[in-house]
Amino acid sequence: MTLNELIEGRYSCRNYADTPVDKKLVEEICLTAVKAPSACNSQPWKIHAFCGEKKDALAQALTDAGLNKHAMQAPVLLAIEETQAQYLARLQGKVAPNRWAKVDLGILTAHLVLLAKQKGLDSCIIGYSNPEKVKSVLNTQNEIPLFITLGYAKEDDTMPEKRRKNVEDVFVWEE
Ligand SMILES: Cc1cc2nc3c(=O)[nH]c(=O)nc-3n(C[C@H](O)[C@H](O)[C@H](O)COP(=O)(O)O)c2cc1C
Repeated sequence: MTLNELIEGRYSCRNYADTPVDKKLVEEICLTAVKAPSACNSQPWKIHAFCGEKKDALAQALTDAGLNKHAMQAPVLLAIEETQAQYLARLQGKVAPNRWAKVDLGILTAHLVLLAKQKGLDSCIIGYSNPEKVKSVLNTQNEIPLFITLGYAKEDDTMPEKRRKNVEDVFVWEE
């Protein structure tokens, strides 16, 4: 698939088959995704891949408000931890630490979902979580701003129409 086809074909999948996902495939996706760019190559991330019972425990922290039921259904759940940015020494003290960390995490996440699609895996980015519950599963004081469900869409799951803003609202030449 071309990059265009991956972008057009990816959608937030909220209906997963119980087909298991090969752990090696998940590792391959994650280890390619970390080639994503980050501010000053700071790489302020750690990807935690959850499956089995521990996945179910983490999924509870994303579903407690009645949201994200698909996190229970998906066979794999990634948690994207925001770690301390490792800025180049010459920038130390000149820029606020982690100023771009969330942007970097967003870029990493985009790489992850597109690579997953390329490997035939469907996904959904999840922002909502109960931080206290997340911390009881994942032993870290760091923030976990994003999660990604991974799995194979159920056969009857279809991509909804892509509803996006009008061209004139999102793009303009300034000349
Ligand atoms: C930062 C971020 C947070 C999101 N959080 C959730 C979420 O908590 N639950 C959910 O079902 N979808 C979540 N989504 C998915 C969006 O709702 C979805 O990307 C958007 O509606 C566009 O649909 P599409 O991904 O199918 O193109 C999130 C997406 C992003 C980028």
